[in-house]
Amino acid sequence: MPPVIEVTSLHKRYGDKVAVDDVSFTVEQGEIFGILGPNGAGKTTTVECVEGLRTPDGGTVSVLGLDPLRDHLELTRRLGVQLQAGSLPESLRVGEALELYGSFYPDPADWRVLLDDLGLPAKATYAALSGGQKQRLSIALALIGNPDIAVLDELTTGLDPQARRDTWALIEGVRARGVTIVLVTHFMEEAERLCDRVALIDAGRVVLIDTPAGLADRAQVEQRMQFRPSRPLDDALLAGLPGVTGVTRRGEFVVVTGDDTVVNAVMAVLARNQITAERLRVEQAGLEAAFVQLTRKDPK
Ligand SMILES: Nc1ncnc2c1ncn2[C@@H]1O[C@H](COP(=O)(O)OP(=O)(O)OP(=O)(O)O)[C@@H](O)[C@H]1O
Ligand SMILES: [Mg+2]
Repeated sequence: MPPVIEVTSLHKRYGDKVAVDDVSFTVEQGEIFGILGPNGAGKTTTVECVEGLRTPDGGTVSVLGLDPLRDHLELTRRLGVQLQAGSLPESLRVGEALELYGSFYPDPADWRVLLDDLGLPAKATYAALSGGQKQRLSIALALIGNPDIAVLDELTTGLDPQARRDTWALIEGVRARGVTIVLVTHFMEEAERLCDRVALIDAGRVVLIDTPAGLADRAQVEQRMQFRPSRPLDDALLAGLPGVTGVTRRGEFVVVTGDDTVVNAVMAVLARNQITAERLRVEQAGLEAAFVQLTRKDPK
């Protein structure tokens, strides 16, 4: 099956300012594809070109085999887009907004079900909604048309932790129905939980595209192990091990940093000295650390 989204050498300027320099990626049918990157990296500009809301200055974009500019009308029926806050009339009620937007589509979702899934009050006016409720409404509006593809830019920004988790479950449910999802996010936990693949974009260019786990691996970020030795331990025994980059003390705990061979090496030294590692904790390198390392302005 051909990819549902194909972006090739996308370039977009605002006046002299290059917002997207050179971005290429494909999104497969049924995938949740994440776009990560620091503020101003060009993520929103990229997805706006996919949505047909902006005209690229170079490169090509194909969505469901359509040209987002030439075939905009057909695409709007098949693409769900999360609207930015503040874009609805203040006096419009939640239920009315969903019903109205649903009427634009040939086969809309049941707005009452969506409203229920997202925990939104049907009768409240837009003006009376909290920031988090407005955000949830924007998600509902992206899904009301039963789209083939949903583009969600900062899906859960402004949501409390419980609402964020509820939204993730909702998105997983949407994907289970076969909807392809493009997710722009600043939350690494969200990307790790939801995305099949992520593109890391920095300064208008794709740094890499990989699974969240693969991305974390590539960054080769440090592992960190912490434990309380059962008997006195000479730190020098650990500091000299290959792969170890640091041995420090935090109260009665020893903290060892280094590459992914460190845990085994340290455990072997402890065993040889009849020391056990009490309350052992190993922190796996996550996507967050990878993100920071891969987009650092001044790499080591
Ligand atoms: N309408 C505009 N006019 C001029 N410059 C713009 C416009 N929109 C975005 N830019 C600039 O283009 C660059 C990319 O912006 P974009 O909004 O695509 O970034 P982003 O990755 O979505 O950032 P964020 O994480 O902050 O949402 C930024 O430097 C931004 O200031
Ligand atoms: Mg943005």
